[in-house]
Amino acid sequence: MTDTASGPQTKRASFTNFEESTAEDWAMILPQLKLTQSRVADRVIGLLRDLESDHGGFPVNRLEHSLQTATRAERAGKDDEYVFCALVHDIGDTLSPYNHPDIAAAIVKPFVSEANYFMVKHHGEFQGYYFWDYIGLDANARDKYRNSPHFERTVEFCGEYDQTAFNASYVSNPLEHYEPLIRQMLCGT
Ligand SMILES: [Fe+2]
Ligand SMILES: [Fe+2]
Repeated sequence: MTDTASGPQTKRASFTNFEESTAEDWAMILPQLKLTQSRVADRVIGLLRDLESDHGGFPVNRLEHSLQTATRAERAGKDDEYVFCALVHDIGDTLSPYNHPDIAAAIVKPFVSEANYFMVKHHGEFQGYYFWDYIGLDANARDKYRNSPHFERTVEFCGEYDQTAFNASYVSNPLEHYEPLIRQMLCGT
């Protein structure tokens, strides 16, 4: 499938509301979802790149933090899916700072295990263990997930890879290193 103006997305329905749409319209629209999904990797790469312009007061910018989290996980021997989650876990930081884990969780959900989805979705509350005392929040907020089978996984993610990924001296892999993984995970290519 090609991603060009002459590609399949030149076909369009002519209805003005869903009530008047037909089975033929949907038979034509539905395959185009695959084309839209095939473009997601480029968008995600672009969003990661955008993180470079924002440091938010942290010692490293948000792209470097993301790369460092992924690189640390990769060098510790984590599998591709885990490393992908580590790379994108903060991709919502500049779109929705207060509930940024939900943005990444929604992006990865169709493509990763329940365990990795949980880890991405709840990493904010688990990361809070290291600093929420300083900002008037409950640093033990993660405790409400103690009965989850994914509790220890998320503790490890934050403890080993996320909260440690603010070292300006660390040499992370570049974003280009992860582009094939992003395409493979999101677009199957
Ligand atoms: Fe985060
Ligand atoms: Fe993070």
